[in-house]
Amino acid sequence: MNQPVMQGLQLNAPAYVKNAKLLAWVAEIAALTQPERIYWCDGSQQEYDRLCQELVQAGTFRKLNDAKRPNSYLAWSDPSDVARVEDRTFICTENQADAGPTNNWMAPAQMRTTLQTGPDALFQGCMRGRTLYVVPFSMGPLGSPIAHIGVELSDSPYVAVNMRIMTRMGRAVYDVLGVDGEFVPCVHSVGAPLRPGQQDVSWPCNKTKYIVHYPETREIWSYGSGYGGNALLGKKCFALRIASTMGRDQGWLAEHMLILGVSSPEGKKYHVAAAFPSACGKTNFAMLIPPAGFEGWKVTTIGDDIAWIKPGADGRLYAINPEAGYFGVAPGTNVKTNPNCMASLDRDVIFTNVALTDDGDVWWEGMTDTPPAHCIDWQGQDWTPEIAKETGRKAAHPNARFTVAATNNPALDDQWDDPRGVALDAFIFGGRRSTTVPLVTEARDWTEGVYMAATMGSETTAAAAGQQGVVRRDPFAMLPFMGYHMADYFRHWLALGEKLQASGAKLPKIYCVNWFRKGEDGKFVWPGFGDNMRVLKWMLDRVEGKAEGSEHVFGVSPRYQDIEWRGSNFGEQLYGQVASIDSAAWQQEFLLHDELFAQLGGRVPPALLEVKRKFQTRIG
Ligand code: GTP
Ligand code: SPV
Ligand code: MN
Repeated sequence: MNQPVMQGLQLNAPAYVKNAKLLAWVAEIAALTQPERIYWCDGSQQEYDRLCQELVQAGTFRKLNDAKRPNSYLAWSDPSDVARVEDRTFICTENQADAGPTNNWMAPAQMRTTLQTGPDALFQGCMRGRTLYVVPFSMGPLGSPIAHIGVELSDSPYVAVNMRIMTRMGRAVYDVLGVDGEFVPCVHSVGAPLRPGQQDVSWPCNKTKYIVHYPETREIWSYGSGYGGNALLGKKCFALRIASTMGRDQGWLAEHMLILGVSSPEGKKYHVAAAFPSACGKTNFAMLIPPAGFEGWKVTTIGDDIAWIKPGADGRLYAINPEAGYFGVAPGTNVKTNPNCMASLDRDVIFTNVALTDDGDVWWEGMTDTPPAHCIDWQGQDWTPEIAKETGRKAAHPNARFTVAATNNPALDDQWDDPRGVALDAFIFGGRRSTTVPLVTEARDWTEGVYMAATMGSETTAAAAGQQGVVRRDPFAMLPFMGYHMADYFRHWLALGEKLQASGAKLPKIYCVNWFRKGEDGKFVWPGFGDNMRVLKWMLDRVEGKAEGSEHVFGVSPRYQDIEWRGSNFGEQLYGQVASIDSAAWQQEFLLHDELFAQLGGRVPPALLEVKRKFQTRIG
């Protein structure tokens, strides 16, 4: 099979790669992108160490002080390539209506001209002077019936080593793939070909960016960025945008959700999945340590970002985490707010865009109360607290991230790797809202819960390029991650609920939360983090039929006395500030729901319009 792909370039496929479609496709992409060489990743530790060493030599990685942070590296990206680019993300379906009004769309033929076939096609020769890495990966446990395989062809070794942490990556994937197994082809290029002898930069990328999905042929093409969800294609591109369309067709759900286990002092175990938009608290909630007063309670992590959820034969919903690692937000993370996360970061970590301390370790805003007297910021500049005061410059980029294996997490759930998944007791949806939305609300039923999730708003964060702090509708925290028409997705949720209910199963309860209400001083009122356990316990008590609440316009919320306050001094007056429902603010809020439904047009399920009418009549 080692036929030449083009003059001087060998396919170099190892003998254990036997999938004919894969071999032909790698040859085809190599002929298009013209890399200098092709390298097939086997996923071994030696390979990881060697690629990291090469990244150090190339100036992309800096090895951190091995005594402080063993086997860990720091990368600083190009300042223009620091987050997902939503305005450059495309869903290319034959009919625009199938992508829906919330997605950027281009006809597949036109996009293929732009990327592959046109006279100035972006992928033509885009890997010149670089190595094409063949990165085979499984989303979900290898060989499990719920897992799906992808192969990413990338000219970025940074992507190859990150994919080894984030997915089950390596040689064993080929055994599962066999001679004729299916895989999702993912092509990625930083879009920075090198002329002979041209000196490379430490973070190659291109001003022009395209993050492209063809849901109908299940393909991903990404050009111009090396960062996060733009480049680690198993994550948002595959596990959400492509998988959401697979789920629509096959009767399951691909969600932007953490999955956690909660064990009560009585030894009962619950499972909860929660959707919060990017940088709104999923990783933190998934690693929560219960506060004082909650002795005997334990929270364990199954996943921190993505859930694949399927109905089981018993009519319950089972969730798995398709990922194998965390690509988490560094700023704000510290030993007080998230000790499990900090412990996960002790060793074997790739940090991106955090600051470098003078002793060869890392720092970011919020890591310690007292910042280091001096460090090198994420752009390689001297940084001191005085400089920060003068210029407002941050030491770490607000979307600085760590990449770390799930197995580093001391709170990892025993079942995190179980191909059967865990049966869900509750769904939580939450946005970042400084006003209006109360701490927690229980939906009266599935349909009203779907309405709450569908109309959820959140303030934009640094996880995506663009303006921050602007309230936008972010249905199910999936706005940037939907692979098809948003209104059809609402319909899919409603239909799934109906089907399960008809089978006589008990559906998970649906909750809406907001940890982020602010006081007049502009500070968060709710302590959040570990104290979110108090809200979680109320939900689980409701699942058990044990907790009280008071019913209002759009559901049931706890009164002060309905929450467990042992170990807390959060008073009733403060509680009022996070739990109040202001009808004037809600009338405004409903106008924003109207806007969303108007945008989605005639495809919004009538059941949701009916819920809105009911709510609005009550509040009016
Ligand atoms: P993505 O990885 O982008 O999907 O983000 P995420 O949803 O996992 O968010 P993450 O847990 O990383 O939190 C993002 C930011 O919100 C961090 O700076 C956290 O410190 C902060 N945060 C998380 N939970 C809370 C909370 O309960 N209260 C407050 N005030 N901040 C929180
Ligand atoms: C998010 O933005 O929701 C993330 C980070 O989890 S990224 O992988 O860049 O999508
Ligand atoms: Mn996310």
